[in-house]
Amino acid sequence: MTSKDEIDQLRAQLNQHNYRYYVLDDPSVPDAEYDRLMQRLKQLEAEHPDRITADSPTQRVGAQPLSAFTQVTHEMPMLSLDNAFAETDMVDFNRRILSRLDLAADTQISFACEPKLDGIAVSLLYEDGLLVRGATRGDGTTGEDITQNIRTIPSVPLKLMGSGYPGRLEVRGEVYMPRDGFERLNAQATERGLKTFVNPRNAAAGSLRQLDPKITASRPLQLCSYSVGVVAQGELPDQHDQVLKQLAEWGFRLNPLLEVVSGVVGCLDYYQRVLQQRDQLAYEIDGVVFKVNDLALQQALGFVSRAPRWAIAHKFPAQEELTQVRAVEFQVGRTGAVTPVARLEPVFVGGVTVSNATLHNMDEIARLDLRVGDTVVIRRAGDVIPQVVQVIIDRRPDNASKVTIPAQCPVCGSQVERVQLVKRSKAGARTAEGAAYRCVGRLSCKAQRQQALIHFASRKAMEIDGLGDKIVQQLVDTDLVRSPADLYRLTPDQLQALDGFAELSANNLHAAIQARKSVALSRLIYALGIPDVGEETARTLANGLGSLDRVRQALPDTLIWLPDIGYEVATEIHNFFADEHNQAVLDDLLGEMDQITDEDGLAASLAASVTLADLLQRMNIDGIAKVGAQRLAEHFESLDNILQAEAVQLNQVPKLSTKAVNGLLQAIADAEWVARVTALESQLRDFGMHWQCQPAEQDSADTLPLSEQTWVLTGTLESMSRNQAKAHLQDLGAKVAGSVSAKTDCVVAGPGAGSKLAQATKLGIQVMNEADFLAYLQRYGITPA
Ligand code: IVH
Repeated sequence: MTSKDEIDQLRAQLNQHNYRYYVLDDPSVPDAEYDRLMQRLKQLEAEHPDRITADSPTQRVGAQPLSAFTQVTHEMPMLSLDNAFAETDMVDFNRRILSRLDLAADTQISFACEPKLDGIAVSLLYEDGLLVRGATRGDGTTGEDITQNIRTIPSVPLKLMGSGYPGRLEVRGEVYMPRDGFERLNAQATERGLKTFVNPRNAAAGSLRQLDPKITASRPLQLCSYSVGVVAQGELPDQHDQVLKQLAEWGFRLNPLLEVVSGVVGCLDYYQRVLQQRDQLAYEIDGVVFKVNDLALQQALGFVSRAPRWAIAHKFPAQEELTQVRAVEFQVGRTGAVTPVARLEPVFVGGVTVSNATLHNMDEIARLDLRVGDTVVIRRAGDVIPQVVQVIIDRRPDNASKVTIPAQCPVCGSQVERVQLVKRSKAGARTAEGAAYRCVGRLSCKAQRQQALIHFASRKAMEIDGLGDKIVQQLVDTDLVRSPADLYRLTPDQLQALDGFAELSANNLHAAIQARKSVALSRLIYALGIPDVGEETARTLANGLGSLDRVRQALPDTLIWLPDIGYEVATEIHNFFADEHNQAVLDDLLGEMDQITDEDGLAASLAASVTLADLLQRMNIDGIAKVGAQRLAEHFESLDNILQAEAVQLNQVPKLSTKAVNGLLQAIADAEWVARVTALESQLRDFGMHWQCQPAEQDSADTLPLSEQTWVLTGTLESMSRNQAKAHLQDLGAKVAGSVSAKTDCVVAGPGAGSKLAQATKLGIQVMNEADFLAYLQRYGITPA
């Protein structure tokens, strides 16, 4: 095959795969195959630069940033739509059409129905099947030339598929950002301390307005086409739905909910059906659009001012509304967290009346710059709780007042303390920080008491039948119950004296409480309401340590030995049990309980797999990873020997790097580190861990630094082959996969990386270049040959 033929063939294959993936949502080959084809095409194009064409799949991104967009005059104006808000508006619309066409009032004409996508209208001009210009709608007459940005959207064909298309064809459609992509983008922005987008529409608009197409390329945008503009040197079908189906054959994405219905009744039925699905759709819509399906009838109907007589948008209830903040109050949660809540002028949004919205924390108030009296945008999309997404600064009244955190708990009057939060990623880097506030009142605070008891009694915790939120509130209000232990001390008489109780119901509740004097350990741990400890973690603690005593004593360094417990959670757990108040509450409770069924106590099996090498590997010694730790363990045989070692002895350890020797010397000299490692070793011994100097027979994968992580390699690396890179990652415990998915932890991308890199960026997955990767391997003492 000549290189020209091969290039043509590769482009056709890549375009086909791209179409299946981005337009049909139906991938035809694994990412690896796509990458391979793309690599080969890039290689051939590098060898024959004269053969590079603008429609080559290698050329989507690549243009240099612009200094400004140029203006584009639309040959055919891009119109807007009239709105219908009620059924009567739709009936009127239909009546106007029939009367204008001189048709009988009961004529059922065909309407094409489509969701009204909430994005940005664009015009795409194709000449001889090639995309030559992409433009925004602008004011309908003039828009902006955004060709470079449009080209980066994978569902936009750079070249039309098939044949039979007009010589000049203007396709119109909506560029939008699906919800999941929007949420990921905002989560990334929040993590980096950047401004977030108010809604997917603004995010799509902002992404298209970038002067640098690389930024647009990194945003998860999609195009759906819904009409045509200029059509010359060729013809299209005479029904709107047929035109769209023709566009689909040329490679465009259509909305799958496109339908043709009969008469206004069909329209109203379609409206209801789509409204039902609204919250489940992967993208936002603000209504549905009805168009007379017959293009000859459209022609006959014509336009009034800027909108066609033959189409209408039937709007859904708005998901964003303006309202005013009447007050900001503070709520106290189970763990004492004091969080601000906005009390709003009631407003109908997303189908319900909203008068409160959570503000999450003080940082959120600062980020929004929100003051009492402000006019704000409230958003309630889907089942999500209402959010304040924006403050309209222009409407701020002179007397708007700043929000301050109260010094005293609004419920119990105890002091409110500030807790510094630092979130860290797996790799230990700071990802976010801020302040949280906590009421120090603990169980003396009614709010915390109530929430704690509701949690304690709940189904996944102690599962006390019949002890619902209302009754807990009564028990707290009447001061009958001040802590979980008090529940067990309640008598049937005390219960019967409460509002709404009779002898039978009081006896039943009493029996239900007493029945829970014996529970499984994992339930009790969960019921305690330790911050960051959900059911899953409670089970891990119960299974891994086997007894409540051990859980109470466990050091953070011991806890991180358990699966999926990181240092932060480990510290929370340790602090919870170290706290005197919590100890007293727990002792009191245990005094009332009969039996806590220990879980299988897997501690022993965990212990069997623990080696001295494992311990060393986990103690954050600079330059010491798996191999170094093993060499040390084999050479010294006990922790004591290592702690007493001096430079001379360390230098005698075969093949131990200088960096490792220095790292260890530094650690040994650090009294705090020595105390930590000694305490850990002694605790692990107490917990029944049998020390082994030799690594366990089957290398227990979950003690490796990258165990349970999935990495993907893409592009070419200069310093090593892909197989070598793979072997290094596997040595560190990682699984190396061929394609990127939401489960991928990290992507190593060398030059020439293609769709996998794009996919990783789309999914917000960590990406390393070769230099990052080498530095990373270095941390574990791996230096490629
Ligand atoms: S048809 C003359 N169909 O709604 C017909 N528009 O208010 C013009 N839109 O600017 C548009 N989904 O951005 C049409 N399925 C759809 C649409 C749609 C969203 C937007 C489009 C337009 C605006 C008109």
